[in-house]
Amino acid sequence: MVADLLLKDVTLPTGRRADLTIAGGIVRHVGAPMRADETIDCGRFTCLPGAVDMHVHMRGGVQAEKEDWQTGTMSAVAGGVTVVVDQPNTVPPITTPEHFWARICEAEEGAVCGFAINAAVLPGADLEGMWNSGAMAFGEIFAAPSSYGEGLDPETLRRLLTRIHALGGLATIHAEEVLDQTPETLADHDRVRPGAGEARAFQAVSTLAPEKARLHFCHASTPASVRAAHGTVEVTPHHLFLSYEDFEEEDARGRVNPPLRDEQTRRALWLCWDRIDVIASDHAPHTSDEKALPFQTAPSGIPGVETMLPLLMAAVRRRRVTLTSVMEKTSWRPASILGIPQAGFEPGSRADFALYPNEVTRIDASRLHAKCGWSPFEGLDAIFPEVVIIQGRRAYSCGDFYAGDPAWYPGQGFLSSDDK
Ligand code: DOR
Repeated sequence: MVADLLLKDVTLPTGRRADLTIAGGIVRHVGAPMRADETIDCGRFTCLPGAVDMHVHMRGGVQAEKEDWQTGTMSAVAGGVTVVVDQPNTVPPITTPEHFWARICEAEEGAVCGFAINAAVLPGADLEGMWNSGAMAFGEIFAAPSSYGEGLDPETLRRLLTRIHALGGLATIHAEEVLDQTPETLADHDRVRPGAGEARAFQAVSTLAPEKARLHFCHASTPASVRAAHGTVEVTPHHLFLSYEDFEEEDARGRVNPPLRDEQTRRALWLCWDRIDVIASDHAPHTSDEKALPFQTAPSGIPGVETMLPLLMAAVRRRRVTLTSVMEKTSWRPASILGIPQAGFEPGSRADFALYPNEVTRIDASRLHAKCGWSPFEGLDAIFPEVVIIQGRRAYSCGDFYAGDPAWYPGQGFLSSDDK
């Protein structure tokens, strides 16, 4: 047999060096090399399993000015992310199987990496229909209002969480307490959506859900919230790497829900690293023009799918966190929470990888691929991948993209239904 690809001289998480032989999108052999159509020498790279970013807003449709599937997924791939999970607060939201299928078609046309699509959770949404059609998970469910999402009241939330539990689905939750005030600055925004309220809201949602419901708490922004999550918990790069003190006080580019916190809270969040299940970007691009609106009216959300792994790799380089913990929180854990086949270094693994050089560079928004053209992480240290492999094929190399056939990853409702 001649394999498709040979990754030569890979340093495995155990420290052992081995050659990985790949065929049909799967790692077939780990150890001695086998003959392959293409060989990549990995000796000078750090090889990571492709990241699964379980929280991105790819926009598209009537919001294509902000982002579309092509630019959003190019951004993902150039940042070492090989599977994205799209959030359903599109315009209109994904509430029916018809919307869901249309979203799959849109993704299939534009995406350059693997993708999955979540179902919106709103009164009247056909949760069962979308689950059977292949929704990966439910939400983010807005237990607090945010951009393109109305907050659900507790009774409605209780009913919807019960239905999701009955299906065996994962409920992914955006929970905050929000005061009825209009913030005028970033510090105000933090006060109006307080960190302590976020932790209380996490607890409140847990009490509304049936026992044993599968809950995943999105973008916890404080240590107390990480601790309060009953279920799995996700943290974003922006809450780890940015505080509102990094911005001019009325700079809406730092406006996001939940808000950036103060510097002390940001530093404390790193101390919870071991308790965090997943790092996900909450890539939520808005245009520079929208972000230049007066603070009160500017939309919340910031782009970040391309910079997530590069920032974390620079943190690994500084010895702030271990390399294996980054693999765990960006690839293995999200894949296992969602039921996506694991990427990695065992025979049978999904052959998605990103190869990172040693050089630390600085983030320069003009070199990123998201349509919005700006980044709140401008100037921060980062290590970008040089080569990205998706399903055993080179998808990206030194700024060039190669055509592939990105996979749609359906959820368990689709996989387990027997009439397919
Ligand atoms: O800041 C945010 N923006 N938080 C969200 O939950 C939604 C997101 C968006 O879609 O723009």
